Amino acid sequence: MKILYDLILPIFFVTILSLFATKSIKNNSKYYYLVSLFIAAISTTYEVYKIIFGGSKLTGIIYQLERISLKGFLALGCFLLVMFCGAMNTKWNITKKLLSIRGQLAIIGSILMIPHFVVYTTKFIMKLLGTKPISHLNYIYIIMGLLAFIILIPLFITSFKFIRKKINPITWKNLQRWSYLFFLLVYLHIAVLLLAAKEFNIAKFSLYTFVFLLYTVLRINKANHLAKLKHNSISKPTLTT
Ligand code: HEM
Repeated sequence: MKILYDLILPIFFVTILSLFATKSIKNNSKYYYLVSLFIAAISTTYEVYKIIFGGSKLTGIIYQLERISLKGFLALGCFLLVMFCGAMNTKWNITKKLLSIRGQLAIIGSILMIPHFVVYTTKFIMKLLGTKPISHLNYIYIIMGLLAFIILIPLFITSFKFIRKKINPITWKNLQRWSYLFFLLVYLHIAVLLLAAKEFNIAKFSLYTFVFLLYTVLRINKANHLAKLKHNSISKPTLTT
């Protein structure tokens, strides 16, 4: 049941919101950024307070919302939409809709990722300073997460339209290619942390692996299709040849 509340419902919510409120997200992006920032600020403040002063465990729906925000499931939902709309057929209505708010989704996802980054980096530094040994797998998935977050920073900044306008389009495109490494690191981060867990959650591991493999297959397919189209348009004889 956890997999439903943790993963499937937040991703479903982000997808439905993106598809039904596409125009609103596009035209009022500032407000969506502010709401995301508000959620990130409350969540980070509460978690940092809990680390410093302790506190009792939340219950019910508030506990579930805390988990979703802290573990970055809404952010993950945004990133998955950003990934998949770049790999799906551009003729589909759903792809067109998502592509029209791709930058906004990347920005919202990055903002919602802040609590996850702040809290787990703080906890990791505290672990480093402590006496308990840290396993190799633990180091590996934390380093993957940190690298993913570092790559996310320039991708986040250059997703703002006013910044994008100031950058040469080829430089911008080349920079955006780093998102493939970002997606790969996110998958490895999650896969290794699931493998390192005391109890291996095979359902979660299989779901993440299926989603990231599906993306890889769709993206390679699209790249091959585009390469074929380009090749055909170059080799097609014209009136002047
Ligand atoms: C943008 C980069 C990142 C993304 C997209 C990301 C995503 C995720 C997701 C989705 C989970 C939950 C996996 C699950 O249980 O189903 C997770 C767990 C975790 N992440 Fe990250 N992460 C990122 C960066 C980081 C960083 C920088 C750190 C720490 C320095 C970190 C530390 C952790 C830890 C410790 C967990 C396990 C939490 C637990 O089970 O209690 N992550 N990450």
